[in-house]
This record gives sequence, C-alpha cells and structure tokens, in this order.
Amino acid sequence: MLEALNPQPQDKILQLIAMFREDARTDKIDLGVGVYKDATGLTPVMRAIKAAEKKLWETETTKTYTGLAGEPAYNAAMVQLILGAGFADRAASIATPGGTGAIRQALELIRMANPAAKVWLSAPTWPNHPSIVKFLGMPMAEYRYFDVASSGIDFAGLMADLAGVAAGDAVLLHGCCHNPTGANLTPAQWDEVIALLQAKKAVPFVDLAYQGFGDGLDADAEATRKVAAAFPEVLIAASCSKNFGIYRERTGVLIALTSPERKAVVQGNLNFLNRQNYSFPPDHGARLVTMILEDAALTADWKAELEETRLNMLTLRQQLADELRKATNSDRFDFVAHHRGMFSRLGLTEAQVVRLREEAGIYMVGDSRINIAGLNAQTVPVLARAIAAVL
Ligand code: LMR
Repeated sequence: MLEALNPQPQDKILQLIAMFREDARTDKIDLGVGVYKDATGLTPVMRAIKAAEKKLWETETTKTYTGLAGEPAYNAAMVQLILGAGFADRAASIATPGGTGAIRQALELIRMANPAAKVWLSAPTWPNHPSIVKFLGMPMAEYRYFDVASSGIDFAGLMADLAGVAAGDAVLLHGCCHNPTGANLTPAQWDEVIALLQAKKAVPFVDLAYQGFGDGLDADAEATRKVAAAFPEVLIAASCSKNFGIYRERTGVLIALTSPERKAVVQGNLNFLNRQNYSFPPDHGARLVTMILEDAALTADWKAELEETRLNMLTLRQQLADELRKATNSDRFDFVAHHRGMFSRLGLTEAQVVRLREEAGIYMVGDSRINIAGLNAQTVPVLARAIAAVL
C-alpha cells in the first residue's frame, strides 16, 4: 500500500527552518517562519503565560476530558477578545489545535454545508490556505490583492475579481496583518469590500492570526467586528500562537456566527467535526489563555507585554525603512514602515533571495517575505546593506 505514495512537496516556509539550522555561519539571520523574537533572538514565554502555568500546576486537580467544543469559558473569552460584547447569542465556537486547525475545520464546515461553495483566496496568501483547500478537493478561486509596483493593495483588481463571487461562496479575508505581504486594507476599503460581498451574498471567512501585532489589540479586530455586524453568517478562524506566544501549544478557535435560532445546530456540527478529526481539542494553551483573560492583573500584564512586542516591530520597521533608504539611495522600500504585522514582502526576485541566503546567510521566504520580528537593531543595517548589494 505505502509504495503507492509519492513524495510530498516541502512546505516552503517550514523548509527554511531546517536550512537555517544546518547553516554553520554564526552571523546568519533567520527572517523565515513567523515567530516573534526579542532583541537577543529568543522567542520568550510571555510573563502572564508563565504566571498562569505556575498557578495551573498548583491548582489543577484533573486532566480528564473537556467538552468536544473545548472549555466553554475559553470559547466565551475568545469571542469576547475578538468580537467584543454583543455576539454571544450568535456565536457557535470550538477550540481547535492552533489557527491552522480552525482553518481546516472552517473549510470542512463549508464543504459539509455547501459542497459547491467556492473558496476565494487573496493573491498572494499564506501558502497553507490553498494547500488545505486543494487537499479537501474544494473549488477555489483567487482575487487580486497585492500591487507589486507600489507594494500596496491592488484595490481595483480586488474589487473587480470579487465581483465574480457567487451567492454562498466563501471569501477568505485576513482580519489584519496580511500574510505574506504586510499590506492591509484601509477602513474605507473594508467598507467597500463588505458592501460588495453583502450584495453578492457571500460568506466571509476571516483568518485572524495576528491580533495585537498590527495597530493594537482592538484596532486589529476592528475589521472583523465590522464584518461580524454586517453579515448573517461569518466564519472566523483565530490563533493564540502569536499574540500569546504559545506556538507549540496549538491554541486556536473557530467561531461560526449565525442566527440565534440556528446556533444550536451549527454548534452541533462544529462539535461533530472536532469528534471526527481529533475528538477533544488540546486544552493546555486554551486553559492558560482563559486564566489570563479572566484575571484583570494577568490580562493587564499580557496586554502590556503584547504592546511592547508590537511597538518593537514598528520600531524595527521604521529602522529598516531608514537603513534601506541610506543603503539604496532611494525611497523604494519606504513601504516597509507603513506595512503592519510580522511580515513584509520586499519585492525581490527569487534569484536575489537565493543570493541573500548564499552570500549573506540571510534567510527569507522565496517570495521575499521577511519576518520583521526576526530582526534586531544590529541586524537591520546588515540586512539593508545585503539587500542593496544584490539589487
Ligand atoms: C508563517 O506564515 O510563517 C506562520 O504562520 C507559520 C506557519 O505555520 O507557516
């Protein structure tokens, strides 16, 4: 049986982790996978997570199963964190293994409810989006998103492509901090997209993996909240990997907004999907998040550290834009300071990306996406000079 299997293509982002590890150079720089690193290159465990873990160790008396949807308190806390007040009676939700688990479950829910629904993805998008859609055999379409010339949004292209959405199609939107480009819709552009998708009777599917990494915890959820208020049905896949720094704990949530009357049936289907795929979702990370969000002091400390992280990335963005100005004698890379989130796509060719890796030990994804949080004050000028050298 197993001899029938073919080799799978390597994941382009995860492949970089192994390549970087194998590189013996001591001055190598990892700007590949989206993981936050502090100035010393460490991905720290956040203070509030440490405190919650300690308390959990002291007070936890059982590790018996939770519910199929995970702990109701976690789901409620996540609905509140993402959407604010006023959505509880419309929100069915399940805990999932990370944001990827939520995306997978959302796609399976779409396929169960409407096998003909096309899934629309931004061009470009996180490579795992099309990969999972294809794996599930679902119809897929792309809408233009990124304008290479300006490193901004191709809004005319986006609107023209989304005009082709059919009723019931699911349109995947990055709630904030677009991955891989770092270019984001303005509030006015969100309003236009919402109006168009309303007219098309589309089902918005929001991927929110970086809440708190862009303009702030509430600001980054603003578009998602607008979408939630504007449509009768919305799917939201959210991750705690980045904003709580608990990548390996696999902590995510899928929220399906529906009418209060349909909520119980939708919830039952979400529970069913968890049962089919892995029975009970992981609990440890979800429990820590709940403990933090239910405790005012821990919440305040978590928010303070998250804000520090966000501001650090903004500072690095500005430094990189300034250094690139100096090194290239042009404003070509000014967009880096205006982008938001962990990533920016620099607009280099694949050959230039390879040269940066081979000649300077600088690792970035082949489409020239860099993880801003992989930089520090010392490596910013090094990167800028290396980029100038390959232009
Ligand atoms: C990324 O885009 O680098 C992250 O979302 C990590 C991943 O799983 O690809």
